[in-house]
Amino acid sequence: MITPLSSHTGAEVTDIDLTQRVDQASRERLNRAFVEHSVLVFRDQHLSPLQLFAAVQLFGDVFPQHNTRFALPECPQIHYISNQDFYPDGKRYIPGEGYHTDHSNAAEPPKATVLHAVQLPDRGGDTQFVNMHAAYQALPEAMRARIATLRGIHVYQSRHSERKLMALSEANQRRVPDAVLHPLVRTHPESGRKSIYLNPIRIEGIAGMDEAEALSLLDELLAHATQPQFEYRHQWRTGDMVMWDNRCLLHKANGDYDMTQVRYLYRIMLKGDVPV
Ligand SMILES: [Fe+2]
Repeated sequence: MITPLSSHTGAEVTDIDLTQRVDQASRERLNRAFVEHSVLVFRDQHLSPLQLFAAVQLFGDVFPQHNTRFALPECPQIHYISNQDFYPDGKRYIPGEGYHTDHSNAAEPPKATVLHAVQLPDRGGDTQFVNMHAAYQALPEAMRARIATLRGIHVYQSRHSERKLMALSEANQRRVPDAVLHPLVRTHPESGRKSIYLNPIRIEGIAGMDEAEALSLLDELLAHATQPQFEYRHQWRTGDMVMWDNRCLLHKANGDYDMTQVRYLYRIMLKGDVPV
């Protein structure tokens, strides 16, 4: 059963066991639901890394993630998200704070990211999503015209980012492109809907635009897009497998819980297209 979780984003999928074979009709129904709702929440799954690896391929091919220090030894295509890692300076590393879309510095960024909750704090640690298609629809016509043909410059880590990523090893740096240009308005390859496509962690500027003007425009778009009416906020339960569409959403983690409690999830991504 597929039940919407808000009027614009998110649907809960129940009565399915992802350790079992899923027939072709169900697979197509789930892929359609993913495009329609942008976030799918599968409850009570409790998958091993290899079971998760098999399950996500109902939706596409696996995307190799950029920083392999977080790879699971038993299934390196799956990384972990944990609150038990620290920056070299000793500060706790909370992955995913601040709104962003994943790996947008790739020429073909992942269409989807999947998280599977293994261990959670008693409360807090929600993931917030905002619907960038709804945000685009709500933009004034003049702003839509202004951004229609602009392209953002995406790098591994923008020097303007407020959040610092964990540094890449030299071997990983060689695999990750220096900078890519992506349209600021992209058209979803499956639904045909337009969305604002930006990423405060990775966008360093807008091609051909003065830096101060670009940053102010990006701030304005971000402030618009992250208003509560565009948000679905996911409260995690152990066993949730949550899959979201990076092509038309931003998301962020919240480090608002008791850090003596472990928060640990598996993460895997699916390949996407060149944004157009
Ligand atoms: Fe993320």
